[in-house]
Amino acid sequence: MRLLEERIKKDGQVYEGNVLKVNSFLNHQIDISLLKAIGEEFYRLFDNEKITKILTVETSGIPFAVAAALFFDVPVVFAKKHQTSNLNTDCYSVNIHSFTHGNDYQARVESAFISAEDNILIIDDFLASGHALKGLLNICEQAGAHVAGCGIVIEKSFQDGGRMIRDAGVRVESLAKIKSMENGEIIFE
Ligand code: G4P
Repeated sequence: MRLLEERIKKDGQVYEGNVLKVNSFLNHQIDISLLKAIGEEFYRLFDNEKITKILTVETSGIPFAVAAALFFDVPVVFAKKHQTSNLNTDCYSVNIHSFTHGNDYQARVESAFISAEDNILIIDDFLASGHALKGLLNICEQAGAHVAGCGIVIEKSFQDGGRMIRDAGVRVESLAKIKSMENGEIIFE
């Protein structure tokens, strides 16, 4: 997606450990016209799939899932990372390791919100090591739901996640694919 790549080039900042900061337009402050274009692009890519629900994981995946859902006109479900008193105990849950942050967390979705009747589009902001996506795919499997594919805003294709998920037969569409970020220079595929 040209608009997104140009914005990453202009405002993305490369940090140590191959981390791309996009806080000024995607991950902290959000550029609404870019967000809308991202949602529309996901709709264009998966329009013919009869999506019934969009699944993501809190926190940063939520705006992109919502932007897409406005075009598909379907509900968004986001996996929660914390057990809270208002979360029903009847949940699908999965342990997810965060390679970037070096911690593990439990992602939970109330079983009432995904079922075997669903055709799910999974959306997330970053695809790096693929643990988050694998966890969301596992939740769909527990529910018996079909997964039409995954929509990713930024894939760091020099990490293993994308290859691993595609090799498992899952359709993954990434709007910007970063091949390398060496010496602070962002190169797209
Ligand atoms: P994964 O997302 O493919 O599983 O890879 P990884 O375990 O490395 O990612 C862990 C977290 O770090 C994820 O957010 C992911 O979105 C984020 N992340 C990975 N690489 C980058 C990067 O280069 N830049 C930025 N800004 N984020 C990156 P999370 O733990 O789910 O956090 P949040 O959604 O609550 O913010």
